[in-house]
Amino acid sequence: MKLWGGRFQKETDCLVEDFHSSISFDQRLYQEDITGSIAHARMLGKTGIIKETEAELLISGLAGIFKDIAAGEVEFDISAEDIHMNIETLLTKKVGAVGKKLHTARSRNDQVALDNKMYVKTAIKQVLAQLIILEETLLRLAEEHIATIMPGFTHLQKAQPITFGHHLMAYFQMFKRDYQRLQDAYVRTNIMPLGSGALAGTTFPIDREMVARELGFAEITDNSLDGVSDRDYCLEFEACGAISMMHLSRLCEELILWSSDEYKYIILDDAYSTGSSIMPQKKNPDVAELMRGKTGRVYGNLMSSLAMMKSLPLAYNKDMQEDKEALFDTVDTWKKSLLLMSPMLATMQVQKARMLRSTSGGFTNATDLADYLAKKGLAFRDAHHIVGSLVLKCVEEKRDLLDLTLVEFQECSSLIEADIYEAIAIESCVNRRTTIGGPAEKTVAEAIVKGWKWLENLS
Ligand code: ARG
Repeated sequence: MKLWGGRFQKETDCLVEDFHSSISFDQRLYQEDITGSIAHARMLGKTGIIKETEAELLISGLAGIFKDIAAGEVEFDISAEDIHMNIETLLTKKVGAVGKKLHTARSRNDQVALDNKMYVKTAIKQVLAQLIILEETLLRLAEEHIATIMPGFTHLQKAQPITFGHHLMAYFQMFKRDYQRLQDAYVRTNIMPLGSGALAGTTFPIDREMVARELGFAEITDNSLDGVSDRDYCLEFEACGAISMMHLSRLCEELILWSSDEYKYIILDDAYSTGSSIMPQKKNPDVAELMRGKTGRVYGNLMSSLAMMKSLPLAYNKDMQEDKEALFDTVDTWKKSLLLMSPMLATMQVQKARMLRSTSGGFTNATDLADYLAKKGLAFRDAHHIVGSLVLKCVEEKRDLLDLTLVEFQECSSLIEADIYEAIAIESCVNRRTTIGGPAEKTVAEAIVKGWKWLENLS
């Protein structure tokens, strides 16, 4: 018989049973469910809603069930619908009729909201820890490559020279924002909904603050309808995941490009590449590609959750059971991706000489030549025009700006003197860009120090 079977005269259709059961996926909430139930039982005993001895029986029974599930000794029952009712059924089997008292002053609606929030809180902490590892990896690599010159790109065309360290520090900033966004989401996830009941609280003299304290929540929710029907914290987590996966996908895309024969900027370690079943010579950046691809499903999770929540009337609706698979998939995909990104970066070989060589041939110092003229008093727009014509000449003659003779330079502008060669040497193009946030070795060193300080001051 169903736990809610009193007013029913017929069995549930077997197709319905399969359709609405969530135990196949929500069993992953067993730890949260049992921890939440133990706190609830303790509160019921403390407030005198049930006897203290009954509460103790419930608590030890729940602890036993926890052990049984963790040991893989429990087979869940699909007809008991979900993890909450499975555990309640197991409890009554274990401790007898007193097990039926656990659900006093509680509904599955506030119970599932509690479990979900506890789950998301843990997931946030895990992702934050992984983001820190990734940030440390990026800082270490940036330190190592603070003077590794490479072309910077816009429109995927060579633009101006930068360093690989500077490029990596751009990703450091992205993952720093991901961290902060998630930290902020944690604040709203850390508000306990238990006590909202089905939708309208309860007539029992429960102590919500006590439960919140025991479970480590900072606050309790202020409205019972909202307490059971809010899934913003899932959406926020999924949105944070979508944005962070977008960052990972951009880095993956670059790793894929850089490891191609056309770029040859990096060589990915064998451990993070795979071969082809037919072409013996192949070494493919599959891990980076898959991560780029999995970004799509993390976006999908956010979209399906938003669509599921759209227009739902207050308060709980069964639609909301659909929150879990999307949430779990984002947790898994995001965590697995972060876990792989750090070692994939740390083990790659950086082809410094090739990166440096790649800065020539694309006129990456053309802006510096225009700046040189502008600093000598020419309007920048006029300087731009002069340099444009010099570039055109070089393109036609298949030469580089640095190959031009002083006479050729001076034919274009009498303002150009012998110091031009130093001024537009690739290294000085980088190291003169000392704007805060710029690519010069000195400014990147400052950014790295700031990055380490930020990491040190966390939590
Ligand atoms: N399995 C349900 C869910 O995940 C639990 C809440 C069910 N509440 C209800 N009134 N049917 O959302």
